[in-house]
Amino acid sequence: MTDLLAKLYPDHLAALKQRSDAALARGGHDHLVIAAGQPRIQFLDDRPYPFAVNPHFKHWLPVTKAPGSWIVYTPGQRPKLVYLQPHDYWHVVPDAPAGYWVEHFEIAIIREADEAKAHLPKDIARCAIIGEDSAAIGEYLPNNPESVLNYLHWHRAYKTDYELGMMRVASKLGVRAHRAAEAAFRNGASEYDINTAYLNAVHETENELPYTNIIALNQHGAVLHYMDLNRAPPAHSNSFVIDAGASFHGYASDITRTYAAKQAGEFQALIDAVDSAQKSFVEKVQKGTNYADLHLHAHHALAGILRDQGFIRMSAEAAVASGVSSAFFPHGLGHPIGLQVHDVGGFQKDEGGGTIAKPPGHPYLRMTRTLEPRMVVTIEPGLYFIDMLLAELKAKPEAKDVAWDKVDYFRQYGGIRIEDDVACGETMPENLTRDAFSAV
Ligand code: GLY
Ligand code: MN
Ligand code: MN
Repeated sequence: MTDLLAKLYPDHLAALKQRSDAALARGGHDHLVIAAGQPRIQFLDDRPYPFAVNPHFKHWLPVTKAPGSWIVYTPGQRPKLVYLQPHDYWHVVPDAPAGYWVEHFEIAIIREADEAKAHLPKDIARCAIIGEDSAAIGEYLPNNPESVLNYLHWHRAYKTDYELGMMRVASKLGVRAHRAAEAAFRNGASEYDINTAYLNAVHETENELPYTNIIALNQHGAVLHYMDLNRAPPAHSNSFVIDAGASFHGYASDITRTYAAKQAGEFQALIDAVDSAQKSFVEKVQKGTNYADLHLHAHHALAGILRDQGFIRMSAEAAVASGVSSAFFPHGLGHPIGLQVHDVGGFQKDEGGGTIAKPPGHPYLRMTRTLEPRMVVTIEPGLYFIDMLLAELKAKPEAKDVAWDKVDYFRQYGGIRIEDDVACGETMPENLTRDAFSAV
């Protein structure tokens, strides 16, 4: 794998340079300066929050644990890494730079964060400095010029072959751990123990994962971002929603599966219907598909499932128009993914900026762009039985066309979400997640 990444890296770097040249020209800057960032310290304490590197930094290098380091890129020149390796016996000092990327950089090692100043461009006014305010050293305060960021964020949607390679690995790591978690569920483990099984298999600390695992048994599946981990197993584990990913050199996977226990056949039937609908949405991850349209199409398809399985007695069209489908599917179909699990630029109109509005009534959609080859998005439809939303629905006129006995019976199962990471191709989508499930 490392050999393949080494082979793909030079083209990735060339693409970043080309994008940066154009971004700097738009903003009228001469240098792109990227701060990795500094750990944040907890209030009245000496304990840092987990360090999350600036995604712009890890775009250039497979390095995620280098607080206080900087990248400087000046068009026409070799990029420079200003690399902080403090003299420190309290903490682990970042490893010496090593690997396929090193030969492409000019590297300056510094021992104190402030020493970076000597290696950054002298004319600060000509710098686009990307980072958090807390990364500032002296006059080098991040200015995050909008025109530069808009251009970079727009193009970040198009993954290079190197990035697709990284994301395939992140998917495989996540899927391997999903298998271990499913086995733990089938053995009746608690949420806490299922999570432990996941962590053991993924071989990443919780801080290294791209997001906090969602491990939800039974009705907990109705909490979209359920992040408690009950220590005790329920008397019967009838259903299981697991939304958990993995990181590989800073690239994320984001994977959700829903399982039913053998005795929960009626819930399995609903899972099967959502699963086949999900696969049909994945097939539409093709050049020219507008993501917001795909989201609305998913609402119609899921409303059709609710009608076919006897949860509602109205047409799919009526269920979508009246908002009934949103009571059962209250989040967006998915989002761009890459260096961040919810990657940037999902609403951007073009490389200059702007916003493509969400369809009215769909506030949680995270992507309105039209799909093009090399974009990677998640496709994550769901159907849930959420007390709060069902109570609201009960107060609406459409409540008369809801089969409440059936809906109420399904509350015990919480909900269903099925999520794959999908790369848009010229003619065919590449399902990174399902390919990984087939391979593992
Ligand atoms: N895991 C968060 C999400 O699916 O968007
Ligand atoms: Mn997601
Ligand atoms: Mn997810």
